[in-house]
Amino acid sequence: SHYRRIRQILKEQPLGQAVEIKGWIRTRRDSKGFSFLEVNDGSCVANIQVIAEENLPRYQEDILRLTTGCSVRISGQLAASPAKGQDVELKAAEVEVYGWADPETYPLQKKRHSFEFLREIGHLRPRTNSLGAVARVRSALSFAVHRFFQEQGFQYIHTPIITTSDCEGAGEMFTVTTLDLNNVPRKEGRTDFSEDFFGRQASLTVSGQLEAEIYCLALGNVYTFGPTFRAENSNTSRHLAEFWMVEPEMAFCDLAQDMEVAESFIKYLVQYVLEHCPEEIELFNNFVDKGLKGRLAAVLEQDFARITYTEAIERLTTCGKKFNFPVSWGADLQSEHERYLCEEVFKRPLIVSDYPKAIKPFYMRVNDDDTTVAAMDILVPGIGEIIGGSQREERYDQLLGRLEEQGLSREDYGWYLDLRRYGTAPHAGFGLGFERLIQFVSGMANIREVIPFPRTPGSASL
Ligand code: 4AD
Ligand code: MG
Repeated sequence: SHYRRIRQILKEQPLGQAVEIKGWIRTRRDSKGFSFLEVNDGSCVANIQVIAEENLPRYQEDILRLTTGCSVRISGQLAASPAKGQDVELKAAEVEVYGWADPETYPLQKKRHSFEFLREIGHLRPRTNSLGAVARVRSALSFAVHRFFQEQGFQYIHTPIITTSDCEGAGEMFTVTTLDLNNVPRKEGRTDFSEDFFGRQASLTVSGQLEAEIYCLALGNVYTFGPTFRAENSNTSRHLAEFWMVEPEMAFCDLAQDMEVAESFIKYLVQYVLEHCPEEIELFNNFVDKGLKGRLAAVLEQDFARITYTEAIERLTTCGKKFNFPVSWGADLQSEHERYLCEEVFKRPLIVSDYPKAIKPFYMRVNDDDTTVAAMDILVPGIGEIIGGSQREERYDQLLGRLEEQGLSREDYGWYLDLRRYGTAPHAGFGLGFERLIQFVSGMANIREVIPFPRTPGSASL
């Protein structure tokens, strides 16, 4: 017989039938004449309960030695369960052990472990309920991202990881070098490796946007979804050095339409995860963040609030609240400001638009006031900024002026200017931080829990 995933067995409940499962022991409890085994195979939150009676082959030798983490194959018959909290149980006919997990050294035990502790065992933490649930939600939402855009006719573009331009202009790039840093520099006494990608400067991408724009102005609506890198030295619960970003880019699109798409995208993803991962959401709501389900439901019920940056500054300066970072027109919003606005003032997701041009990258379209740009950030309760986007500067002269203002060379951005020289068109897009989305739908306080292998200034041990 072929083994079945526990998720499917619990869903279909084929009572009286022979079934076979393969998975890992969570717990064993012994009673007079039999043992209860809780088995999980990673397909769902729930374990299946197995009854193993003492007359089974190798009961004394194997079954009574099973501990948390052992891997097993169990065949038997599915029966209705008299126990509370479960509908079915598996009456074992045969238990085969694939691998033991010495309880003296195996770090995972039945009790709950702190997330800090689990970070130190990145190779074992996906075996826990919460991190396993995060992994399934991440997978489901990756698929949902593609489904949302594909349903609307967007083309998926693979933008490069090694690039020669700094999209955000923040100088937070990891340099790529072909040099063997252990040998060449020491011998030659070199300290400058900035031109060492086969004789050119190159770095890991901070955003696929600029390349997505190329394809947008050829194919129409496109999106990219991949890893991005930021060498910013911020050790916070919302920043990673390597994170995944979803970036749609839409032709013949202005800022208002950009916001519409972004809002319906977030709603779609929240709806999708509620529909496809209800057990995971229940688990997060019970053990990670009691307010989660209420917050997610609220996202679907209401329109996102919308204010301009200038209005936001006014609210923040007149609210009488003391912030760690001072607020004034021209200063960037800090996460404490963002969270205050959407958690305490609007109590729902909030779109802030029209930021000062001086604090935004060169590619954003300058507004008629000549001091603000057609930019928007979406802020959500519990996190702050989850999306950043803008209408792009499609006018050649204005773009050239912005490049010069920011000290960027016309030669380096010749191809980007060409897009405005030949058949330019209004276009807009945004970037969704995928990990921040996963934090939002899981209630996980720290971004290190929502990516399998977090890379932060402090650590990249595995
Ligand atoms: O606001 P950002 O920097 O915007 C861009 O990169 C644009 N090029 C996007 C575009 O218009 N196509 O980043 C977009 C989002 C942020 O809102 C945030 O959610 C996430 O990416 N993000 C990070 N997530 C984790 N760790 C970091 N260090 C992040 N930096 C940005
Ligand atoms: Mg941003």
